[in-house]
Amino acid sequence: MEPDGTGVWRDLVAKFNSSHPGAPVRLIEGPTATDTREDMYSTAFLARGSSYDIVYCDGIWIAKFAAAGWLADLTARLREDDRRDILPVELQAGEYEGKLYRMPAFTDAGVLYYRTDLVKEPPETFEELTRIARASQTGERWGYLWQGQQYEGLVTVFLEVLWGFGGDWIDSSSRKVLLDSREAVEAVTWLKGTIGTISPPAVTTYTEEATRNNFQNGRAVFLRNWPYVWTLINRRGGEMAANIGVAPPVHAEGEWSTSTLGGWGFAISRFSRDPDRAWQFVEFVTRPQQLREVQQRQGRIPSRRSMIPGRFLPILESARMRPAIPEYAQASDILQRWLSAALTGRVTAEEAVKGATRETWQLLKT
Ligand code: GLC
Repeated sequence: MEPDGTGVWRDLVAKFNSSHPGAPVRLIEGPTATDTREDMYSTAFLARGSSYDIVYCDGIWIAKFAAAGWLADLTARLREDDRRDILPVELQAGEYEGKLYRMPAFTDAGVLYYRTDLVKEPPETFEELTRIARASQTGERWGYLWQGQQYEGLVTVFLEVLWGFGGDWIDSSSRKVLLDSREAVEAVTWLKGTIGTISPPAVTTYTEEATRNNFQNGRAVFLRNWPYVWTLINRRGGEMAANIGVAPPVHAEGEWSTSTLGGWGFAISRFSRDPDRAWQFVEFVTRPQQLREVQQRQGRIPSRRSMIPGRFLPILESARMRPAIPEYAQASDILQRWLSAALTGRVTAEEAVKGATRETWQLLKT
């Protein structure tokens, strides 16, 4: 899984191993970015090895891993009371062709953080955000931080902007590419326009943590990030915690706000030699007690409705999944490359939209 910066996962694994005699679970820490960890798992699966029994899985990996036959069907293992407690959209994100392949653990949705000491009413539209950001930024404080590096995080940011303009990317069921639109050009143009005006030029190198650190240190008015930031800032307490508000993503006049759904859960490899033991761990780690521990120490929000802080519930319940297609990783890679080229001024917004559309169409035509 992700690097275990807080040590919470090591503690949970140790707790499991000491209370469940049998083959011990061993934690393997991978790189930070979801895309890179997906590559690690894919390489292992392609070698048909049983190097990983348990997969800590981003929702966007499910279609590919399940379609390739790499994951065990967990449908019959899910308890009825858990099915009722877990957010429906998170269960859906773990399904492929009607079967459950991932036990949800944590949910995620993009939110807009703002400084309540600087911003009276959170903005609802792109224009309001730009206006307030410009008015409240100073030499030491930028207006708006987001994740602009060429990786999956950029896609999650871009989708919120694209949906906010009324555009779309790929339709999962028809596999149609919907990107070639005026709205998509507007979305790329808007994001590009933030760079050097309300967002620092370095935003094209930022991932989640870089933006959180800057925001937490008072160096920005607005931040687009996930709910974990809220927990981490509030845990520290103090002035900063008292001055942070959360709002849904902004949108164009006449359109509406949509967050990108994120989230993590546990799947079991079909090549595992001991799937029952693997399930014992999954079952253990997704109980409220363990989830609460991760929530407190790492900030992640459990996907159990009974554990979701009220302020995030409406945003999470209406968040939208990224396309559930087996080619997701490749489609995302295409989009990332073209977006990054546009954001760094190597191509125009129109060229980026056309180029990404053409390549995605090639990828999905069958
Ligand atoms: C968060 C989300 C995940 C997303 C990733 C992008 O971890 O939970 O779904 O893919 O961010 O950086």
